Amino acid sequence: MAVRLGDLAPDFIADTTEGRITFHEWKGSGWAVLFSHPRDFTPVCTTELGTLAGLKGEFAKRNTKVIGLSVDPLAEHERWKGDIRDVTGHALNFPLIADPDRSVANLYDMIHPNASDTATVRSVFIIGPDNKVKLTLTYPASTGRNFQELLRVIDSLQLTANHAVATPADWKQGEDVIIVPAVTDEDAKKRFPKGFTAKKPYLRVTAQP
Ligand code: BEZ
Repeated sequence: MAVRLGDLAPDFIADTTEGRITFHEWKGSGWAVLFSHPRDFTPVCTTELGTLAGLKGEFAKRNTKVIGLSVDPLAEHERWKGDIRDVTGHALNFPLIADPDRSVANLYDMIHPNASDTATVRSVFIIGPDNKVKLTLTYPASTGRNFQELLRVIDSLQLTANHAVATPADWKQGEDVIIVPAVTDEDAKKRFPKGFTAKKPYLRVTAQP
């Protein structure tokens, strides 16, 4: 069954390039990005894993761990590591789950049979400190993901988790945010002492808290 926003992220035990893990235990009380890619030794996946390895520090700054998955066995993951480093200049620095029996892929509905019966699609799950799913994304095998977008979403999620705000289209860290409609003007004056601009009665913007 599909894993949807607000669902508890299913827990599992799996073998990874960093040893056997229990997912919730490994994740701890921070944030996590769990993503699948179709196969080892494929071109787009090679670029994705290297790019993500290069961004590990950016995810760590956001208290976010990263973990990948494909249905290939551990020995293949280990052999592929050298290529990722050669091509991208970044050594794999996060765990890659080996899921040859597809148990985790099925748990998270990462195999879409009308795309491929055997390989996982490019799924992304962002999971919060409460182990609930905050974002899902599905990309086809032929399109490499934009990992800056994942960082941008995490910035938005972490901001909105702490303040009564939402973020507008194309928002980036430091730009104005939207006061959620549930907050009255009276309340907004107290919560946002720098003030706000009402572009419409339902669209009020304020400086990023
Ligand atoms: C790739 O990672 O390059 C890829 C994987 C499966 C199908 C197409 C491309």
